[in-house]
Formats: sequence, C-alpha cells, structure tokens
Amino acid sequence: MLDLTPDRASLDPIEIASRDEIQALQLARLKWSLAHAYENVAHYRRAFDAAGAHPGDLKTLADLTLFPFTAKDDLRQNYPFGMFAVPREQVSRIHASSGTTGKPTVVGYTAADIGTWSELMARSIRASGGRPGHIVHVAYGYGLFTGGLGAHYGAERLGCTVVPVSGGMTERQVQLIQDFRPDIIMVTPSYMLAILDAFRAHGADPAQTSLKVGIFGAEPWTESVRQEVQAAFDMHAVDIYGLSEVMGPGVANECVETKDGLHIWEDHFYPEIVDPATGEVLPDGEMGELVFTSLTKQAMPVIRYRTRDLTRLLPGTARSLRRMEKITGRSDDMIILRGVNVFPTQIEELVLAIDGLSPHYLIELTREGRMDSMKVVVEARAGAAGSDARRAAAARLSAQVKDRIGISVTVAVEEPGTVERSMGKAKRVVDLRPKG
Ligand code: DLL
Repeated sequence: MLDLTPDRASLDPIEIASRDEIQALQLARLKWSLAHAYENVAHYRRAFDAAGAHPGDLKTLADLTLFPFTAKDDLRQNYPFGMFAVPREQVSRIHASSGTTGKPTVVGYTAADIGTWSELMARSIRASGGRPGHIVHVAYGYGLFTGGLGAHYGAERLGCTVVPVSGGMTERQVQLIQDFRPDIIMVTPSYMLAILDAFRAHGADPAQTSLKVGIFGAEPWTESVRQEVQAAFDMHAVDIYGLSEVMGPGVANECVETKDGLHIWEDHFYPEIVDPATGEVLPDGEMGELVFTSLTKQAMPVIRYRTRDLTRLLPGTARSLRRMEKITGRSDDMIILRGVNVFPTQIEELVLAIDGLSPHYLIELTREGRMDSMKVVVEARAGAAGSDARRAAAARLSAQVKDRIGISVTVAVEEPGTVERSMGKAKRVVDLRPKG
C-alpha cells in the first residue's frame, strides 16, 4: 500500500497545535456556544434554568458538567425546527436521520455551518490520504442522510473530482470504479463488502483497481473487516465517524499513517465520556458513552448531546487532537442474552476468524418460553467446500462464541448470496422476540 502521510505543511495549524492552544480555543468557543444556545433556543433556556446553570457560570472547560445533557428525545419533542437557534430563513440546508420508529430527527445548517462541515470533511479526507486532484467515488446515500452530501462537499473543498454515485445499483458501482479509476471510495463498510462480492462475481480482480483508500463509516466495523478489504483491494481502509445531530460525517477521522483510532476535530466538537447509567463524567481512557458539545455551530447548537455510542478517549498521536477508540457499538445495539452483554461486532470478529465464512451475517433473536436464544446466520464464502466443511465451520463458530463470549448460540451456514445486502447501513440484528 502507498505511503499517503500528508505533508505537515498541508495540515490545519490546529491539528498540530499544543494542548494549551487547543484548550484555550475550546474554552472561548464553548462560552460562545452556551450563550448562543441559551439566548436563541427555548429548550436550552428552560433546561439551563431548571438546572440552575447560566452560560456565565462557565469559567473552565470542567464547568461544562454544570449544564444538562441533551438527548435524541429532546430533538423529537421539538420537531421539526424547534431546536434551531437562527431564523428559519437563515437555514440553508436540512438533513434528517431516518429513525426506525416515530418522527425523524431534523437538523439544520446555515451557509457558514455548511462551510465548516466542508472544511472538516476536507480535513478528514486529507487525513485518510486524499489529496487535491484525486478522484473520489461517493457511494454513501445522497438525500436526507448526511453521508452523501457531507462527503461530496468535503471532497470538492479539498480540490478533488467528485463522482456522486450514491448507494445502490452495485453492478454500476463496479463499472464506474473500473472506468473512472477513482483514487478514493467513500461508502459504508458493509456496502463495500457487497461491492467486493460484485467484483468477484464479474471475475474482476479487486486488487487491480485504481483505489488507494476507502473511507468507511456510518456503522460499526471491525479490524477483521479492515484487513479483509485492505487485502482484497490493496488499499488503505480508514474509519470516519459522525452523526447528524452533531454535524454529519467528519466529526472524527483516522489518520492513514497510524490507523490507531479516530482523531476528534476538537476545535469544533468538545467530547466527554460519561457513565451511561449515572451520567458521571469519566476520565480519559475509560470506556463509556460519548457526549458532544458543538463549539461553532450556528443553526443548531448541541449541548452535551448523548450519542449512545460507546468508546473511550485517548491522547493524540499523528495529530495533537485527542482520539476516540474505534466504536464497538451503540448502547442501543447491545444484546443482553441470558445476562451476557454482546455486541454484533464481537460476533463479526469471530466469524471472520474462521476460514470458509464470509463477512455477511445476521443475528436472529428468538424466545422459546422464557429463554432467549441467538442464531447466527452466516454465508459460506463463494467456492468454499461442500456441506461437511460448512457444518464444521458452523460448529467452530458456535464453539468460539461459547468460549470467547460465554453464550450458546446456534449457527446456520448458508449459501453465498442468501443474506440480504445493505446499500447503506447494514441491519445486523433481527429481533423476533415478543415485545413487552
Ligand atoms: O451515519 C453520519 C456518517 C455518514 C458518518 C457517513 C460516517 C460516514 P447518522 O445517520 O445520524 O449519521 O448516524 C449516526 O451512526 O451515532 C453511530 O452510532 C453510527 N456511526 C457513524 N459513524 C460510525 C463509525 C451518520 N465510524 C450514528 N463507527 C452514530 C461506528 C458509526 N459507528
């Protein structure tokens, strides 16, 4: 794989600033953001008043704990535009996250917010190994989802040639990658695996493509998937993180030269890790729920927004900005099976460690009587040997799950192509247990 370490001179000065400089900037911006939210959003005024916290009380970064958390439900209750801090006429873009139940979560951006987002996405693509002049194939969905347009504006801002393919039509993705010869692909990791299958189905060698880097995010993915995709395409696979409520993609990104967790663009987003049960702030290095406060957003500031994503904060390496560890899962995705906590990514790691099993899997939860059970449905790799080998792979996976995670599961190894492919975020868990 190519060495794509960016020139230090091409970085934004804050990426390599001292911690003191970063914290001074954060403090000044945090004061602005709290006052902006308090003065312009009825929800924040009520919530701050109820907590007895006034923006003027913030003297140090640690004083942020005086202020109340914001949850997704607060956004829902103020649907659609109640969380905006500027008159609607000044909002130049709306996005929304689909939400499986109830109303979508709506977010808004001023023209200046779009400018900041584009800068941070350009920074993310550069950290991933992107350069002006590169061709960028964007296969994140375009529309209300922030992935497509977020990637698009960032790639343009960096000076790249953007191919706005969006998600879906996998055959055409393959053709355009072969014909346009992109340097970079931006797509969910699960859809990249579907594209990989399509290459192989065409008898095309993925290692021969022009791709140098894949920038993958919007869902959890494991080191095993990174190794799989890097080896197949002979390219770097880099992690990008973000969420609509905080901005969209480009809140944090890995550096291609280290791939050791995602540097948070802390000059715009102030991170905290809290105990998900008590809300107590945890020191750097401890696992907990990631919470963000926006420092510069105009249209929709967020104060101590509970992401439900679980990770920990680590010191900077390739950049001075702190890192977050690759996300293992959301508190929402955690399966509790007979008292044991399991994340789909733990199953993914074990699936990929077994020869003959593909990365396409689904976890089914059922209940018989009072007992919850888990079934892992996983596809055999194309060309993997016959039914005996499949049975052996199934037995190995269930033994590994028992051994490493401590739960008994049944495993069904199916024909290649039977597990439904995602065009965006993969659905890994089907919960067939009765509700309530
Ligand atoms: O998924 C924004 C995005 C688009 C990020 C493209 C990266 C690339 P939402 O639809 O609002 O926004 O979903 C946000 O997705 O809270 C995480 O649970 C999950 N997520 C996003 N990036 C990652 C990642 C976009 N790199 C939610 N690893 C977040 C694990 C991720 N989970």
